Amino acid sequence: MRTIELGKSGMQVPVIASGCMRINNLDEKQAASFVDKALSLGVNFFEHADIYGGGECEKIFSKAIGMNPSVREKIILQSKCGIVSGKMYDFSKEHILKSVDGILKRLQTEYLDVLVLHRPDALMEPEEVAEAFTQLRESGKVRHFGVSNHKPSQIELLQKYVEYPLVTDQLQFSVTNSSMIESGMEVNMTTPGAVDRDGSVLDYCRIHDITIQTWSPFQYGFFEGVFLGSEKFPKLNQKIDEIAEKYGVTNTTIASAWILRHPAHMQLIAGTMNEKRLEEVCAAADITLTREEWYEIYLSAGHMLP
Ligand SMILES: NC(=O)c1ccc[n+]([C@@H]2O[C@H](COP(=O)([O-])OP(=O)(O)OC[C@H]3O[C@@H](n4cnc5c(N)ncnc54)[C@H](OP(=O)(O)O)[C@@H]3O)[C@@H](O)[C@H]2O)c1
Repeated sequence: MRTIELGKSGMQVPVIASGCMRINNLDEKQAASFVDKALSLGVNFFEHADIYGGGECEKIFSKAIGMNPSVREKIILQSKCGIVSGKMYDFSKEHILKSVDGILKRLQTEYLDVLVLHRPDALMEPEEVAEAFTQLRESGKVRHFGVSNHKPSQIELLQKYVEYPLVTDQLQFSVTNSSMIESGMEVNMTTPGAVDRDGSVLDYCRIHDITIQTWSPFQYGFFEGVFLGSEKFPKLNQKIDEIAEKYGVTNTTIASAWILRHPAHMQLIAGTMNEKRLEEVCAAADITLTREEWYEIYLSAGHMLP
């Protein structure tokens, strides 16, 4: 599996990570088989959040992988905190520290490789976040820190106080959810794609060596469904299928290769719990789409070139 450095962490990570938000759809045996398969494919990076399955996903995962110190050394674990489901977002020092203790307990580990703040908290006090991060790093509970669904100014505000470089911003991204590309291509126009919805986060992350982790790489809208094979995207599917046939791979591989082809060197967080499909996603790490193919897929999703 091809690897990249996650931000300025000095840590090499596979370009495909396994997102465990849906692992509670599997029974114990299936979950154990799935994590085995992931490891055999070189996917040793597992992405969690304290709220997935109300904490169950982290528990199921640690059981499935048979967590012990020697297993732990071979994998990279990331989890997220900051959402109090259905109620509020909470980046207070007390909440972050308490959340990490819960995560470590459920994952049966003494440390997280990466702790990510899940969604911006309007009441965030960056000094408090910084204190929490310093305490977590000095106690050895967390090695690196990142954010999710943040725009550049929010990252800068945090980074003004946090003494460690934020290594990732996890953002929704796929060919059907690519407004961060569109706004860069339709600059200064009155077209819908020209709207800058994220403060130019793509360029910001590249300038500051922050790795974008792409969540929901196969979904359209906000969890509306999978665009692959969907009647809602006939042109896109036709183009992806055509290119898939040329490479002798599946549509899932080509949709993944489209993300990996972007020179920002993103890490794709795959949410599949299907072993065969994970294999298809991983096949993308060995494919480099041509510039023409990348643009053809982009255009067939309905985006424009001015
Ligand atoms: N930071 C955030 O705010 C945030 C938000 C959401 C998710 N995440 C993270 O991102 C990860 C991925 O998100 P996601 O699960 O929404 O991503 P996804 O990989 O786009 O979606 C996975 C779902 O789509 C199905 N699927 C994938 N490819 C398919 C295909 N070719 N045909 C039919 N069905 C297909 C999978 O079913 P099978 O299992 O049957 O393959 C699974 O149910 C999560 O696990 C989580 O770690 C982060």
